Amino acid sequence: MAARNHSAPAASAAVRSWVFRSWAIMSWAVLLCLAVSGCQPASEGPPASPEQPASPEQPASDTRSVHFTAAGDIGMGGGARAVLDVIAGLKPDLNIVLGDLSYQAGAEQAFCDMVTQKLGKDFPYELITGNHESDGHDGDIGTFAECLPNRLPGLQGTYGTQWYVDVPQDRPLVRFILISPGMDFPGGQPLDYSPGSDRWGWTASAIDGARAANIPWTVVGLHTPCFSLGHYGCQPGEQLTNMLVSKNVDLVLTGHEHVYQRTRQLGLTARCPVLVPGEARDDCVADADNSLAQGQGTVFVTVGVGGAGHHDVQADDPEAGLFAVWSGKNRDRALGTLDVMVTGSRLDARFVPAAGFSFTDAFAIER
Ligand SMILES: [Fe+2]
Repeated sequence: MAARNHSAPAASAAVRSWVFRSWAIMSWAVLLCLAVSGCQPASEGPPASPEQPASPEQPASDTRSVHFTAAGDIGMGGGARAVLDVIAGLKPDLNIVLGDLSYQAGAEQAFCDMVTQKLGKDFPYELITGNHESDGHDGDIGTFAECLPNRLPGLQGTYGTQWYVDVPQDRPLVRFILISPGMDFPGGQPLDYSPGSDRWGWTASAIDGARAANIPWTVVGLHTPCFSLGHYGCQPGEQLTNMLVSKNVDLVLTGHEHVYQRTRQLGLTARCPVLVPGEARDDCVADADNSLAQGQGTVFVTVGVGGAGHHDVQADDPEAGLFAVWSGKNRDRALGTLDVMVTGSRLDARFVPAAGFSFTDAFAIER
């Protein structure tokens, strides 16, 4: 059964606090700016280009930011608690949960209690289903979505299964788009994300809509990866994956494979018209280092290390050339979370390990 729709929730205390902080910082910056140099107020930023009639670009004086964490494959053991402690210490504005929650039937409330004890009752711990709860066999996504409901204002779609939200709601810096391809739902069937399907169209429209509204960053999250140095194939599908890259989605976050792995920035060009799972063509790598420019392609990050355990990574996997870094059971094993800060001009991401682990990673995308 699909999760409940929570399309117009009240803003949580965390979001209110974040809005207040952002507003206070911005107000201070504008006052200082006016006092020192007589600069233009934020509302008089550069005009929109003719083909972009929506809201103007982020003005240079925009000092706002959005801070989020993301991890999946959590469980209810010491690893899960250690990663929740990391997230609590980072104090993000929200956390994207990349699926696979309790790994136990009937433990939904206990899982939710574990989370709220660590992060607080009103913290935006935002859910997308994994394969363990999509068909209900290890807990039901609908039940999880009731005890860890959406806390972000303006969410569109079906929370837990297929939704997007702009953060902050006013003059957004980032659109989060969460989808559920490549997994079975009740009845043993996957949701249809094939080209031309309603869900394909919904996903494409959500990405295009972010661009049309001049939202600086687009982040897509889903449970299953396409490219992986672990043991899974391309479960979300080659065509859907290529669609995300063709639209230059900045960041695609997944779980499922219990590893941390980050691809290079992958892009489609005349020399790389399509990304083929199981291959790693140099022509498909837009940028191989850790300092990237927006608009050349997509970075895929698997953060399946939210507590449940580890899979091996294969350095000789035929897709290895697509990847910048990897960590798994047999190499630099770590539990932890991705930690991301976005502003109007850049996205900074790093991996923060839980206590007892030392693996880290960091990369940035500039606009
Ligand atoms: Fe998992």
